[in-house]
Amino acid sequence: MSLIEQTEQAGVVTLTLNRPEALNALNTDLIAELGSVLAALEAHAGLRGVVLTGAGEKAFVAGADIAEMRDKTPEQARYFASQALTVLKRLETLPVPTVALVNGYALGGGCELALACDWAIATDNAFFAQPEVGLGIIPGFGGTQRLPRRVGPAMALDLITTGRRIDANEALRIGLVNRVIALDERDATIAELTKQFSRNGPNAMRAAKQAVHDGQDQDLDSALALETSLFALGFAGEEQREGMSAFLEKRKAAF
Ligand code: CAA
Repeated sequence: MSLIEQTEQAGVVTLTLNRPEALNALNTDLIAELGSVLAALEAHAGLRGVVLTGAGEKAFVAGADIAEMRDKTPEQARYFASQALTVLKRLETLPVPTVALVNGYALGGGCELALACDWAIATDNAFFAQPEVGLGIIPGFGGTQRLPRRVGPAMALDLITTGRRIDANEALRIGLVNRVIALDERDATIAELTKQFSRNGPNAMRAAKQAVHDGQDQDLDSALALETSLFALGFAGEEQREGMSAFLEKRKAAF
């Protein structure tokens, strides 16, 4: 049985993690299926965006599967984490915008999964935490690296060393999520994102993501040079001509 539901509207794919008996906890099967789904999306030429969410109203993802992890040896734990990290890297490097729509608990690996998306929206019942130290381990799906890059090292260490839970509004305040919505606005929010992503130039969105992601690891001058190259490259295809002509002709662009 599939653990991930996939729907698509105008090139925007919504992936819904669906393992309700364990609040969508990430076990080997779910991680492997996410990897396969993402591999297929990498080859999807018409893809314009991805929204990742959890089934139901209680949990986005309640973490890595604790029952599966308990008896692992260090070697097995290393393998488990590296498999997950590969999948999360795949998500992070999808060439289109990716949004985590966090509905309910995003704990441990769930928070780390949200962090592998470009940005996040939380429903008003969402809770975030990196509770691993309470289990005698540290975050292993990227939390010690992506969380400080998102919210700063001091706030990341506050969350990681206390393990405390924060609600959607605190997540908004510290920049872990970009917006908070009511739980019943979930479908409307996905529809709105779909509308926005599908009316923009698809190559422009891909180039913008590339510029932001690749620029993060470079000094400012190199990153600005990268932007200039991608900006100029935008003038090589049909998309720029159509976008600007549509504006001047007072019509909607047909991308
Ligand atoms: N792994 C495995 N099973 C989990 C799970 C997890 N992370 N989280 C929840 N479940 C299971 C529970 O064991 C329970 O199963 P049973 O019905 O068979 O007992 C079911 O999901 C429902 O959970 P609860 O009964 O606990 O529901 P609740 O409403 O009382 O509590 C919760 C919800 C606060 C999310 C609680 O389940 C919880 O604290 N879960 C664990 C959260 C956690 O510690 N996550 C971090 C995991 S470690 C990690 O992720 C490491 C890493 O970086 C890779």
